[in-house]
Amino acid sequence: MILPGDGIGPEIVEQAVAVLEAADKKFNLGLSFEQGLIGGASIDAHGEPLTDAQLAAAGECDAVLLGAVGGPKWDTLERDIRPERGLLKIRSKLGLYANLRPAILYPQLADASSLKPEVVAGLDILIVRELTGGIYFGEPRGIRMLENGEKQGFNTYVYSESEIERIARTAFEAAQKRGGKLCSVDKANVLEVTVLWREVLDRLAPEYPDVELSHMYVDNAAMQLVRAPKQFDVMVTGNMFGDILSDAAAMLTGSIGMLPSASLNESGFGLYEPCHGSAPDIAGQGIANPLATILSAAMMLRYSLDMGEAADAIEQAVSKVLDEGLRTADIHTEGCKKVSTAEMGAAVVAAF
Ligand code: NAD
Ligand code: IPM
Ligand code: MN
Repeated sequence: MILPGDGIGPEIVEQAVAVLEAADKKFNLGLSFEQGLIGGASIDAHGEPLTDAQLAAAGECDAVLLGAVGGPKWDTLERDIRPERGLLKIRSKLGLYANLRPAILYPQLADASSLKPEVVAGLDILIVRELTGGIYFGEPRGIRMLENGEKQGFNTYVYSESEIERIARTAFEAAQKRGGKLCSVDKANVLEVTVLWREVLDRLAPEYPDVELSHMYVDNAAMQLVRAPKQFDVMVTGNMFGDILSDAAAMLTGSIGMLPSASLNESGFGLYEPCHGSAPDIAGQGIANPLATILSAAMMLRYSLDMGEAADAIEQAVSKVLDEGLRTADIHTEGCKKVSTAEMGAAVVAAF
């Protein structure tokens, strides 16, 4: 299921689909695509950001590729019918609790990072973000009127042991397959919910003797990510901290336009989307970087469709295009050739 969404969503998804079609042709994958609506596009058509029929249709596909949702046009709507609710609904209803956000620096982009090349060279971090719980979904929530006549906004930061345990296992297993290091990020010096988070991680650690577990407070983690990011292998954290830390990690790789993601449920079903948003400031200009979406499509082939060879080929094609010096505006540096969204997509297709 292809859900382009809003803003730059349709522009970048068009390129990712073209790349998937090229992969299909080369490797005979037998892919077929269904197009659907989410976010503002669905609000405009149906009055809600994700219809139940659309949700059901997405769940029946083998995987979902999503662009991004949101934009100023819908920013004044009530919370329950904002574009972002569509995204939260599909994540929650399909049980997509395990959000994998790999922050990998392509060596060709070392100069595009906002950090010094030597600080980021060889960077390869996996952020494992819990995606269907925490303060994003905790009840009660809302805005209420106090007796003194002023309004009060409130949310609830809550995690049950089972929710922590399943995301922790995802992260431990990922660390086993990678560098064997797992850093759990919390705020256990202040928040009870993350005291429990830490306890659960510690309880599970003996089951993964080949993984070295450490804990870090989120404020320090934010600082360490920009000070010495290569100290990290796998990071695991809750919904909101993961949202924030992954945007910070994105910049280490040159641009948020480079960061793909996979969101998986217990049976391995997945939704794939770039980590960035709908970028209303550049939407319609044809200059957005499609690589995060193209790399998300590669993750989709690898994790949901068991087409690892085609996924490898897409990643190699991206690397080749970067070797050729092609850059969208967000990753452009001196001496490189500035290309549009469509030119970047076409170059990846041609690099197969
Ligand atoms: P954003 O990620 O859309 O944009 C932040 C900055 O990064 C902007 O300057 C934008 O131009 C740039 N950028 C983002 N993606 C880019 C790309 N592929 N190529 C080049 N530059 C890129 O975040 P925002 O501005 O805070 O949010 C805009 C809207 O997107 C809001 O409505 C927000 O709710 C929504 N949003 C959606 C998602 C999602 O669908 N997963 C994620 C984040 C934000
Ligand atoms: C992301 C986005 C979403 C989130 C928003 C749009 C709901 O920022 O996918 O990172 O906060 O999860
Ligand atoms: Mn985000």
